[in-house]
Amino acid sequence: MYNVAIVGATGAVGEELLRVLEEYNFPVKKLVPLASKRSVGVEVEFKGEKLKVKELTCDVFEKESIDIAFFSAGGSVSAKYAPCAVKAKALVIDNTSHFRMDDDVPLVVPEVNPEDIKLWRKKGIIANPNCSTIQMVISLAPLHKEFNIKRVDVATYQAVSGAGKKGMEELFEQMRALFNFKLDKKVEEREVFPWQIALNVIPHIDKFMENGWTREELKMVNETNKIMHSNIEVAPTCVRVPVLRSHSEAISIYCEKPVDVKRAKEVLASFPDVKVVDNPKKNEYPMPIIATDTDYVYVGRIRKDLFEDNVLHFFNVADQLRVGAATNAVRIAIKWDEMEGREFLKEKYGK
Ligand code: A2P
Repeated sequence: MYNVAIVGATGAVGEELLRVLEEYNFPVKKLVPLASKRSVGVEVEFKGEKLKVKELTCDVFEKESIDIAFFSAGGSVSAKYAPCAVKAKALVIDNTSHFRMDDDVPLVVPEVNPEDIKLWRKKGIIANPNCSTIQMVISLAPLHKEFNIKRVDVATYQAVSGAGKKGMEELFEQMRALFNFKLDKKVEEREVFPWQIALNVIPHIDKFMENGWTREELKMVNETNKIMHSNIEVAPTCVRVPVLRSHSEAISIYCEKPVDVKRAKEVLASFPDVKVVDNPKKNEYPMPIIATDTDYVYVGRIRKDLFEDNVLHFFNVADQLRVGAATNAVRIAIKWDEMEGREFLKEKYGK
């Protein structure tokens, strides 16, 4: 049984972490919700109990004897406070991008590279990949094994909750203004997204880099290859859409071997946590409304290229707050517990 801290417990991913830890019956002895000073005293619920949020400080991990700390409060918070948790001998599972490309920090999707968890001892940290990357690699892994992928072209359709609670509120407020025919300032007002998001589509997530790609796009390129230990050419276009929850992706893979739709469906369907939903005659295909609040990656619209024998196209949808963040983090913790947890407790408490 572990003492578990959630850093960012009042946020969109933090709240989901509380739910997922409870649903998966993770062995929690004590749960400590942490956030900024602003949230001290706010109540969150875990296993029917109301818990008061405490302030994140450097010494809270030592004081509360934390064994596992989930971080989900932004990169700068992880940069500053993850070392405090590690110093207090806690395992850090970090949801931010801060440590992902550090050679001494494993970047893990348990369905794809569970063996990398073992590298956690190098820094005491395991990184949770970017949400769009997680759902993509879960569908790429079985296809790569079968057809040997050389290149991936992907366009994302990312929900506003990827930008946290403030992202959801911004869409709500703008939709409300539109439905009230207040097509004035309110719709124009924005803090989170660079343009009006209601009834719009924005091909811009995170910062633009010198080379014209966005940081979100480069995360998908670099993280995919780190997780898959591959050298695949990845070309993403990341797009924000006015959907509250669940990211979608239109993916094209260019393979060394000729592709086969029937075989692709078989290997996808037998891969853990993938559901193939692909019945055009009945209008059945993946959509955010079927993925939301579930722990599966839905794959459909699977079809062979009209011109090339080695190219396959498909559509992929998953709840990015769960599969792309909270559930992946808890799955990492479960796997880590199986692989290393007993040893860790023995080392830490000498029992
Ligand atoms: P708070 O609510 O106190 O600001 P989201 O991704 O939904 O925007 O949530 C971000 C989470 O990170 C919230 O729980 C937020 O807490 C927390 N957070 C943001 N900045 C800090 C900080 N400097 N110290 C601790 N927690 C923070």
